[in-house]
Amino acid sequence: MKTNPEVIYLPITGIKKACRLFSTPFFLYSEKKIRENCRFFFNSFKQYFPDFRPLFAVKANPNPAILRIIQQEGFGFDCSSESELWIVKKIKGHGMHTGNYIVESELRRALTTPNVVLNLDDESMLTKVGQLGMPKTLSFRINPGIVAVTMKSLQTAGPNAKFGVPIERVVASYQKAKQMGVETFGIHMMAGSNILDEKHFYGITSKLLEIVGILKKRTGIQIDFLNIGGGFGVPYQPSERSLDLNLVAKSVRKAFDEQCHRFSLKEPQLFAEPGRYITANAGWLVSQAVVIKNSHKKFIGIDASSNDLPRPSIYGAYHHATVLNKTSKRENVTIVGSICENNDQLATDRLLPKCEIGDIIVLHNAGGHAYAMGHNYNGKTRHAEYLLMNKSNLKCIRRAETIADLFKRCNE
Ligand SMILES: Cc1ncc(COP(=O)(O)O)c(C=O)c1O
Repeated sequence: MKTNPEVIYLPITGIKKACRLFSTPFFLYSEKKIRENCRFFFNSFKQYFPDFRPLFAVKANPNPAILRIIQQEGFGFDCSSESELWIVKKIKGHGMHTGNYIVESELRRALTTPNVVLNLDDESMLTKVGQLGMPKTLSFRINPGIVAVTMKSLQTAGPNAKFGVPIERVVASYQKAKQMGVETFGIHMMAGSNILDEKHFYGITSKLLEIVGILKKRTGIQIDFLNIGGGFGVPYQPSERSLDLNLVAKSVRKAFDEQCHRFSLKEPQLFAEPGRYITANAGWLVSQAVVIKNSHKKFIGIDASSNDLPRPSIYGAYHHATVLNKTSKRENVTIVGSICENNDQLATDRLLPKCEIGDIIVLHNAGGHAYAMGHNYNGKTRHAEYLLMNKSNLKCIRRAETIADLFKRCNE
């Protein structure tokens, strides 16, 4: 079986240095890898779309130090909440806000954050937007009914998805927005996350451009920018192959050429909003074995839990695990945390070198939708985040939460 080096890579020297300086568990991010991912992503599209505009999906990793690195690489931001808008304003970023079923305060913040375009999930929101002050530029998120080939819980379009304007309401939604004073329009779709099938991106781009063409034919409305969303997958299992991003960008170009010609369209500017692709393989959760239990099967208890990395407990996601510096005979083990839920199993039934208490266990691909999804169940505190900088220096970019932090908002 071929092993994908993207999955198994570890910045060993940096991890060892961090383990000497800090107590486990912690998240470690590689600045070098984040910058490489940004450049690779940007350049893959730029060769076919000179004015391509990438936006990083803040929800994947909202640490301001990480956002600044990504911003330096020329990215704007995709925001999905008030706090994401807040941090993007603070770092003077630009981008889009894509919410769904949002409260008025979030809408107000989205409308008043400089250089952020509102991307509406539903035409019914137009009334509220009108009351707050119609922006000159507006976008709609479309749900064209396409179901992405990915985990069910990561499908964000299709008849069962709560997101986006259904295709039959697209014309009416744009017409209404135009009547209400919008002058410049965008269009957006996000059909699913962690997609490793290159053909998907051709399909959604073609579909979006077909909608753009029909819209122009029926209403004369021109779409100035087209956002194909995020969802660019990364391999989590060593046996998985990486997404061929050049092929993705080339096929998106093909869709543009075909559909712009078919509908005589002025080419919209291309946006995309990757999250996972930029940070997932640039982050690791570094933990230590604290309890080894021989039960019906062998469990290795670590000092991190699923509150740090919820993906395996929420949707059975796979994260590769490495026991640092061990080459002993392999055995079948399950790596668990200390939360009182049986789904607190971070890596099940893995063949790993025989482990002892104190061994460092690293969970890979923990830089995207990892810390960001974490929680405090069982009163667990959130752990620190460190950045491995370009010259191998380490910087604390978020201190560990304390018990006092947990209770500071409570009154007796
Ligand atoms: C609207 C939107 N854009 C972008 C993303 C980023 O997705 P990914 O990290 O799969 O690229 C998401 C993730 O859920 C999303 O909901």
